Amino acid sequence: MYRDLKGKVAVVTGGSKGIGKAIALRLAEEKMSVVINYYSDEKRANDSVEAIKEKGGKAVAVQADIGSESGATTLLNAAVENFGALHLWINNAGLENKAPTHELSFDDWTKVMKVNLNGVFLGSKASLNYFLEHDIKGTILNMSSVHDKIPWPTFAHYTASKGGVKLFTETIALEYAHKGIRVNNIAPGAINTSINAEKFKDDEARQQTLNMIPMDYIGKPEEVAAVAAWLASDEASYITGTTLYVDGGMTLYPSFEKGDG
Ligand code: BGC
Repeated sequence: MYRDLKGKVAVVTGGSKGIGKAIALRLAEEKMSVVINYYSDEKRANDSVEAIKEKGGKAVAVQADIGSESGATTLLNAAVENFGALHLWINNAGLENKAPTHELSFDDWTKVMKVNLNGVFLGSKASLNYFLEHDIKGTILNMSSVHDKIPWPTFAHYTASKGGVKLFTETIALEYAHKGIRVNNIAPGAINTSINAEKFKDDEARQQTLNMIPMDYIGKPEEVAAVAAWLASDEASYITGTTLYVDGGMTLYPSFEKGDG
């Protein structure tokens, strides 16, 4: 438990499933009030809210397209109207789809950029304005991926967006550090979520991924959520602009485990 988080207010974009859901549940366990943003999965978002309420926590599910300026405003307003303030904004929403780059439609490129990169900018902008206006030493947490540094053929739009998130994090961390606003980035590896569910149904594909993970297992959403709670808390009070890889060693050039180079 991080006692300083108690009573504070968080927005989690894409909070109805996967890593976002685990983060929302974890923050509620830390006694934060949570705005769980969803785009289309109303039922799952409501289920998370119920699960939180059953344990005596506070949460509300809010539909919004984080790729639009009005979506970010809707979420900020929901935090203030329901819980009276905002202290933590988690830019978690993200999408990916596979396509050889020479066949990748501009439409698909744009869809991914809209959520993964524009969404991070818009969420950050909305929360920064709130923090500055109310003199709050708030925190922003972004969610990139190991693919903010590992190239990933057939996912060029995804890697471009995630690389962008990393440097965007560093830039605004520097820009607002003197205001006491901390901005950090979590880079998950392969985690058991719906984004990977189809792929991991296939034993061969699953094994191929496992071969890239020195710790020999696919990560759990809760393992990412634990890092998010810590980075949001005062225990990490001197950390800003960092990217924390939560990947079981995936970024350690695992092929070197089996060869001398
Ligand atoms: C992607 C996953 C992938 C993992 C490791 C993540 O960013 O969302 O689909 O398994 O990176 O490649």
